[in-house]
Amino acid sequence: MTIVDAQAPDLPIVFVNDAFLNMTGYRRDEVLGRNCRFLQGPDTEGPVVKALAQAINKGEATNQDLLNYRKDGTPFWNALQISPVRNAAGLIVYYIGSQVDVTARKAAEAALEAAAAEQARTAQQALADRTALLHEVDHRVKNNLQLITSLLVLQTRRTLDDATRAALQSMLSRVSAIATVHRRLFQSHDLERFDVATFIRDLMGDVSSGREEVDIRLDLERVDIAAAQAAPLALAVNELVDNAFKHGLTPGRPGRLRIQVRRLNGHYVIEVCDDGPGLPENGVFEPGFGLTITNLLAQQLRATLQFEAGEPGLRAILKLPAHG
Ligand SMILES: Cc1cc2nc3c(=O)[nH]c(=O)nc-3n(C[C@H](O)[C@H](O)[C@H](O)COP(=O)(O)O)c2cc1C
Ligand SMILES: Nc1ncnc2c1ncn2[C@@H]1O[C@H](COP(=O)(O)OP(=O)(O)OP(=O)(O)O)[C@@H](O)[C@H]1O
Ligand SMILES: [Mg+2]
Repeated sequence: MTIVDAQAPDLPIVFVNDAFLNMTGYRRDEVLGRNCRFLQGPDTEGPVVKALAQAINKGEATNQDLLNYRKDGTPFWNALQISPVRNAAGLIVYYIGSQVDVTARKAAEAALEAAAAEQARTAQQALADRTALLHEVDHRVKNNLQLITSLLVLQTRRTLDDATRAALQSMLSRVSAIATVHRRLFQSHDLERFDVATFIRDLMGDVSSGREEVDIRLDLERVDIAAAQAAPLALAVNELVDNAFKHGLTPGRPGRLRIQVRRLNGHYVIEVCDDGPGLPENGVFEPGFGLTITNLLAQQLRATLQFEAGEPGLRAILKLPAHG
């Protein structure tokens, strides 16, 4: 501790205890009569010194941690507390200073801060690595699906039997739908979400070629689903669109196809409507392979699939719970 004379010019030290001398390395006769600022040095923080001066000017007590130097030049962190001492008339006659070497605590704090920063950096890097890996996987899956698509195209061309050709063509359309999903996932910036509207636009571009007589209307709200749901949903939509072209819209005759995507009461609703023959008398379709897998996919998505009479034609309604 130190006591300085508040009435003498520039606050000279009038008392120091032995602990102060041990901490700083000075002899008593080297410090008595001097202002305490002799402990400061090149790396002492200017703003902290300014705050000390301001508090002392106002006659207030103050606490500051600042860098000080021993007589041999080695720096140490000083936790300094200064309090004014008043006489009976209220005049400040002394200031008492308490100095504690807190170098060890400061070093521990700095180490902790550095460790936290390092941890944050590591986590950031891990996330970046994971994102890059996921991107790479999407890329490979996309390429492999394109390879499978090409194989199916080649095999279809070489097949003479009509029924086999039709089956191969159906598989080609299903694999293409999944390939489109992976192309979209790979191109997207967000690897976790899948934009249904953009997928449907892509799909319609692929399937509507050669069917110029069909008046296609897309009424698509932007709807993002989890990437894991993208393939089953895309396949289901592909089956409904395929059915609309195959059973609802007769080639060569003008027809209308409307696809709507919207968010409604916590659900995503996807409607595929054509103006063809619609539902049979008894109100239910005899499911073939297409509707069988579509029903399975709907179950997997925890979605419902409903068919209603359009005016005219058919409305196929796929309704899945929206997350987030
Ligand atoms: C009682 C007392 C003890 C002080 N002890 C220290 C100290 O240990 N280390 C230090 O750097 N400054 C200490 N100071 C602050 C300086 O003496 C001085 O007030 C500060 O540097 C701001 O004034 P300046 O801008 O004129 O230097 C002490 C001040 C008082 C009043
Ligand atoms: N949009 C539609 N308009 C009229 N009838 C439809 C429509 N969609 C489906 N159907 C009827 O439901 C039946 C079953 O459809 P489903 O998709 O299961 O089989 P598919 O289309 O005949 O063959 P695939 O297995 O290649 O899909 C169809 O054969 C058709 O009679
Ligand atoms: Mg079908």
